[in-house]
Amino acid sequence: MLKGVILAGGLGTRLYPLTKVTSKHLLPVGNEPMIFHSIKQLTTAGITDILIVTNPEYVGDFVNTLGSGKDFGCEFTYRVQEEAKGIAHALALAEGFARGGRAVVLLGDNIFETSIQHAVNDFHAQQHGARVLLKQVSNPERYGVATLNGNHIVAIEEKPKHPKSKYAVVGAYFYDASVFDIIRTVEPSARGEYEITAVNNAYIHRGELEYSLVHGKWVDAGTFDSLTEAHQILLNAADWS
Ligand code: DAU
Repeated sequence: MLKGVILAGGLGTRLYPLTKVTSKHLLPVGNEPMIFHSIKQLTTAGITDILIVTNPEYVGDFVNTLGSGKDFGCEFTYRVQEEAKGIAHALALAEGFARGGRAVVLLGDNIFETSIQHAVNDFHAQQHGARVLLKQVSNPERYGVATLNGNHIVAIEEKPKHPKSKYAVVGAYFYDASVFDIIRTVEPSARGEYEITAVNNAYIHRGELEYSLVHGKWVDAGTFDSLTEAHQILLNAADWS
């Protein structure tokens, strides 16, 4: 059974002072708190066993807002990431929850116009390894950027000054159980974080990283401008509002 992990820790400094009130992931987008979108992405794809990783400051807000999962037709488990040491560091907290199985990992600030069900199906059909979702964007330097050779990803660079392509690696990842062994080999980056891009590059070196493309619009709602864009996308996308 595929499990779901939503990473909703981090500091949200780019959205201060809104994040003085609560976590970025509980701020309104469309007609709902941001994290409802990630939850619905998972539940509509049939994934109902969901871990939510938060930081210590906001964990109470998450539990008060989301509860057990009954209202969403799913079951939540919560884990606290004591320090915002990166996406791979947050994901490491999911090892016990995953129990040796495969998982879909969503960054709680990524908003999609349409369902990612097609990528979940692609991953179900995949024997082993990992899968990422790519989207062509006009500002790739803000993201992890994939270099493609035919149908293969040959490298991913995190926020490169001179991107080699327009393909952003978006915040939806699909991993087999070996992800946790890989995370243990990752060293902190220059910005002091355990980067998910390092994990994905390890899968590339094993020849085990596949990709799917995002259908429709995608936004990482981590800044004021992109939060406004996310709001508009969800208000216009009847499926998710
Ligand atoms: O949005 C896609 C991008 O997300 C990718 O293209 C990049 O490769 C990836 O590194 C990431 O970049 P960001 O700089 O946008 O990541 P950010 O620090 O904003 O964190 C994204 C989410 O991950 C956020 O919603 C909360 C969660 N997070 C982040 C950190 C650093 C955690 O749960 N714990 C953390 O320590």
